[in-house]
Amino acid sequence: MFKFLGFCLMATVGLAHADEAQLKRGAHVAVEVCSACHSLKYIKYNDLMKLGLTRAEVDAMRGDKDIGGPLLSQMAPNDELGMFGIVPPDLSLMAKAREGGAVYIHDVITGFYTDARGQSANHAFPGIKMPDVLMVAQADAAGKKEIDQKANDVSAFLEWASDPQAQERTSLGRYVIGYFVFLTLLLYFLKKKIWRRLD
Ligand code: HEC
Repeated sequence: MFKFLGFCLMATVGLAHADEAQLKRGAHVAVEVCSACHSLKYIKYNDLMKLGLTRAEVDAMRGDKDIGGPLLSQMAPNDELGMFGIVPPDLSLMAKAREGGAVYIHDVITGFYTDARGQSANHAFPGIKMPDVLMVAQADAAGKKEIDQKANDVSAFLEWASDPQAQERTSLGRYVIGYFVFLTLLLYFLKKKIWRRLD
């Protein structure tokens, strides 16, 4: 019984905010790299402060854009259509829209290679019109490792972006579980105390 309660308690407090640093790094990649072409229209600049980024960091990211405004692509849709033949999709809900979520996004952005004809190709999305923005195809082993980390960070961030309240729900859930564990212990000792008289 105590082992089980101990386990619950550890699960309750243990994991909270473990990946905050990763989400912050991912936010930087999304704003500095991806938003050159993609919008994240359901995320506002001030939402990024929920990840623990400071106001000064967010100010540096947004430049002259409104703090309460959405993260829009830095390119106009028409220019994008001319350049890529397609308007790059909004990334706010991408992690929910594709099977595999964050793993899929990671695989798309790290899936680039140079094929036998010397052309850029992608393992996860053959014929993709997106360029190899993280420059995976040319990278050596050390470079690939670094890119992999970046891809993990930005995918985790996009997973967060697709459901920004998920973290709040999880931490609220932890408090609720913690409360139940506490209540269980209290009632357990109360029961022992009451029944002792009858033993
Ligand atoms: C130079 C412009 C450009 C940049 C920068 C860019 N993308 Fe894209 N991206 C595109 C285009 C164009 C498409 C549409 C590809 C298609 O449908 O063939 C696309 C498509 C995607 C897709 C969708 C795949 C699908 O299943 O529809 C994902 C995921 C994606 N990009 C993620 C990212 C991430 C993450 C970053 C930042 C690391 C990024 N992109 C940066 C141009 C860009």
